[in-house]
Amino acid sequence: MTSSASPSTPLRHPAVRLTGYAHGGGCACKIPPGELEEAVAGLTGQTGENVLVGLDDGDDAAAVLVREGLAVLSTADFFTPVVDDAYDWGRIAAANALSDVYAMGGRPVVAINLVGWPRDVLPLALMTEVLEGGLAVAAEAGCPVIGGHSIDDPEPKYGMAVTGVADPERLLRNDAAEAGLPLTLTKPIGVGLLNNRHKRTGEVFDAAIATMTALNRDASEAALAAGVRAATDVTGFGLLGHLHKMMRASGVGAVIDAAAVPLVDGAREALRDGFVSGGTQRNLDWVRPHLRTGPGIDEDELLLLADAQTSGGLLVVGELPGHPVIGHTVAGAGIEVR
Ligand code: CO
Ligand code: CO
Repeated sequence: MTSSASPSTPLRHPAVRLTGYAHGGGCACKIPPGELEEAVAGLTGQTGENVLVGLDDGDDAAAVLVREGLAVLSTADFFTPVVDDAYDWGRIAAANALSDVYAMGGRPVVAINLVGWPRDVLPLALMTEVLEGGLAVAAEAGCPVIGGHSIDDPEPKYGMAVTGVADPERLLRNDAAEAGLPLTLTKPIGVGLLNNRHKRTGEVFDAAIATMTALNRDASEAALAAGVRAATDVTGFGLLGHLHKMMRASGVGAVIDAAAVPLVDGAREALRDGFVSGGTQRNLDWVRPHLRTGPGIDEDELLLLADAQTSGGLLVVGELPGHPVIGHTVAGAGIEVR
């Protein structure tokens, strides 16, 4: 066979930019928080005697008591491509889906894949790479991936439904925060800005990929060891959005020290260069009525703190060795950023 093409490169599917097939990006393609709450307002109250954590406080995963001493956790997460590389996208989606189990203080025990694929447009070999990435991260978590469900879909989508187990007495809940405790964040924020820049320019941000593919397992175990009662993971609603949800569910307020919040390399530059996503703007609009800002906290600082994350870290009410304290909880309501 002859060909006039230049020598092939080792790149797997160099011509395909997966993010070009996504209308939104990652957790930034979530339905906006206010709209979602309104849409499901009449559907809460799934309270049976075995439901430990239901829908009412918008927690990370459902928790049911299956026998004395054993809670089963159930959660699902999937989204459109956040990065162009298929394998990395798979890894990120898996780490993100598993995270909701860790955010509850659980251990994932089985996962199933959820896939939408435009089979007329994109090669199935590329889908295989996505699934391989997911499998690699699940293997790192010690969580078997057994089957799943796939559909022909004009827009590629990938994620997992994950089942976990936890000690029912030691769940990390959204509604268990108390006043007067430190707030710890276990991953830097700003990946929403960098993913948006990547989608628009093709630049690759290794630090962002590294943090998005990292499991929240160690942070979860450290939180349990420290006796923490309340935690959540920071995803599409951003740091401010998830903090607001947890504080509201717990009936307490918070103070955030903006300068103490860790940022992924390049995030501030991406903000300066205008790569704020629509999801981030909606996050900030949603929490703004509950925000008070100190001197020197401008709109840009708030947009950074509201940046829609994909596979973000744990926001823990308590202190964890090796991770920055970014503020504290207070009696009252609302969030003060200073
Ligand atoms: Co979550
Ligand atoms: Co989730």
